[in-house]
Amino acid sequence: MREQLIRISGLTKVYGSGETAVHALDGIELTVEEGEFLAIMGPSGCGKSTLLNMIGALDQPTEGEVWVAGENLARLKNVDAFRAQTVGFVFQLHNLLPTLTARENVETPMQGQNIGAHKRRARALDLLKLVGLEDRADHMPSQFSGGQRQRIAVARALANNPRLILADEPTGSLDSQSGEEIMALLGELNRTQGTTVLVVTHDRRVAQATQRIVRMHDGRIVEDHRLLDPMEEDLRMLARSKLGQAILNEDDMPLVNITPEEEAVLRQVLARIDGAGEEASAPADARVN
Ligand SMILES: Nc1ncnc2c1ncn2[C@@H]1O[C@H](COP(=O)(O)OP(=O)(O)OP(=O)(O)O)[C@@H](O)[C@H]1O
Ligand SMILES: [Mg+2]
Repeated sequence: MREQLIRISGLTKVYGSGETAVHALDGIELTVEEGEFLAIMGPSGCGKSTLLNMIGALDQPTEGEVWVAGENLARLKNVDAFRAQTVGFVFQLHNLLPTLTARENVETPMQGQNIGAHKRRARALDLLKLVGLEDRADHMPSQFSGGQRQRIAVARALANNPRLILADEPTGSLDSQSGEEIMALLGELNRTQGTTVLVVTHDRRVAQATQRIVRMHDGRIVEDHRLLDPMEEDLRMLARSKLGQAILNEDDMPLVNITPEEEAVLRQVLARIDGAGEEASAPADARVN
């Protein structure tokens, strides 16, 4: 069995107190093994960013424990070293520094890490190469597109070769093509380097690029499942939808319950089943001839 990289038990986070208290996290139990690629989904305000912040030691729990890479985060001796060495962050709030070049931005996590200036620079260029932007290392963030900036943020997250990458909606502000590229990049790191990756996303398609989806609601984990195959995921979504429930309950006129997203998935599923049928029947035809 693989080693547990993250172990969270009874994690609660309450912001404020008294009548205005917000229970952002409410008794989270979660374990993540080294090398997993995991998506965290759920409605706005359900606690996704709060959870990621706790795992990255950016915020303190009200109750409960968070262990990462064998360390109890409440007892960390050097929080800065943990953040710099163990975790790479791709957060929208941790945007690129506008007055530094792409290369200098990628170098920032290496500062204070006892790495010489020459080595830092070479490593930053290697990382920019990895995300396909090596020839623009000296450009300023404002000269890049949103997707390119996000790639620089991924390169920066990798600066100290972390075991864990925490990405909070890394594709949120991107068109679907750039979003797919970012996910492909994270997937490749996960496969080739064994980096554990946690991605918060609202987008089902983004989540499907991972291996496991954790769904949250009101500060709790309400679902945690491993992805098997995209078709099964689509069928699961349809079965859970109002449309699927209407069909399963044998309601009249189930199609009035369909949303545009469900309709698109339904069409894709039917097309795939249709395509699979044709492939399956082709050899039979060939035998007849
Ligand atoms: N610093 C804070 N002070 C007070 N309340 C906070 C703070 N940070 C978050 N919250 C509250 O905690 C809850 C969870 O917030 P969080 O940012 O984790 O949600 P989220 O799932 O990331 O939402 P979104 O999808 O909109 O980013 C929300 O009700 C939010 O208003
Ligand atoms: Mg958030």
